[in-house]
Amino acid sequence: MQTLDSISPLTRARSELLQARQLMDAALALVPSGQWLERPVPERHRLLFYAGHVDAFDWNLIRSSIDLPSGHPSFDRLFAFGIDPGNGQLPADRPSDWPSMSEIADYTRALRQRIDGVMHDVSPALLHMAIEHRLMHVETFTYLLHNLPASLPSPYRRGQMPLPFPSRISRDDSMVTIPAGLATLGQPRVDDAAFGGRFGWDNEFDSHTVDVPSFAIHRYKVTNARYLPFVEAGARPPHFWRRRGRAWYWRTLTGDIPLPLEWPVYVTQQEATAYARWVGRTLPTEAQFHRAAFGTPTGEERFYPWGDDPPTPSHGNFNGRRQDPVSVASTPLGDSAFGVAQLVGNGWEWTSTTFAPFPGFRAHPSYPGYSAPFFDGDHFVLKGGSPVTAARFLRRSFRNWFRSNYPYVYATFRCVEP
Ligand SMILES: [Fe+2]
Repeated sequence: MQTLDSISPLTRARSELLQARQLMDAALALVPSGQWLERPVPERHRLLFYAGHVDAFDWNLIRSSIDLPSGHPSFDRLFAFGIDPGNGQLPADRPSDWPSMSEIADYTRALRQRIDGVMHDVSPALLHMAIEHRLMHVETFTYLLHNLPASLPSPYRRGQMPLPFPSRISRDDSMVTIPAGLATLGQPRVDDAAFGGRFGWDNEFDSHTVDVPSFAIHRYKVTNARYLPFVEAGARPPHFWRRRGRAWYWRTLTGDIPLPLEWPVYVTQQEATAYARWVGRTLPTEAQFHRAAFGTPTGEERFYPWGDDPPTPSHGNFNGRRQDPVSVASTPLGDSAFGVAQLVGNGWEWTSTTFAPFPGFRAHPSYPGYSAPFFDGDHFVLKGGSPVTAARFLRRSFRNWFRSNYPYVYATFRCVEP
């Protein structure tokens, strides 16, 4: 009988790529008819770009390692890369600049056939790059759809809505003391021959340790209930909040619901920093996050907050089982060794750390533009993962990053004090 361990890294990577295709295809299938040319987030491409991009990316990546003639050079370039413009530089393309959906479907069908024909010659590391890139775009695409003017059909049945009443948890502001200790950031380098199914992006190397002095950190992510007084004191309401009369609502992917007070608040890094200042605290650094999440009282470090076991649904709200957050206290089996809740899942967590290379960083030759263009001082590190983040991104070394004023991503925060 074939056990999981006896499956070769290549076989496993191939089946994971097929699963990732299914997930992204399902996300693309949510686009309401007639809306492919919509651009729900002004700083990103129109929706139809993503229908061509994920397969064009795989194709361009594989062609970088195997010499293959292109069947459609202009589409290979058109769908090669996403965009992340700086302030005042929004894209100005017109609908007529784009091919039809049927042309895109023909293009991607041909690409998949050609990719599947050469997959046995592709290194597992490159396949994992393709898999993770596609899974990242499942999340991107979900939050783009979240910004369409009309909501998608609701998954909530009557009586299943989270209740908008304040509770002890929704107002819990308790801090947990983390003793001084070492945090290991990044992961050790392995060459392709020793790959063994492990994967890391260029910005996850080299592994190094940071000496972190003692600090205190919020046990729970900051909730909508705790953020509300900040808004009532004059702060701008978060992107996902709506006001009707005197009542606040939360815009889910599928429509507005009364503001769930026990859910974490989704904010920009600038809003999170302003709130922290307002309560006399700061955001954690990337190293402080690591220490709170993966450190232990005895000094060892874990792969995940709860230990070294792979993630399961009882550890947190991730992997797309639901699109919305849950209460900040609802997954205690995922708590860290120090008793800090939900350090992975239920919303990425902003840090105060500027996205920058680790010592020994080398851009990956097959995708040199993954990280390096964003080492510009304008992007900040997020850790953890959101409800729609694939479980494989919960690994300790994974780093996400966005501009400090980007409001569309499912990003939460908690505060620290010295
Ligand atoms: Fe991409």
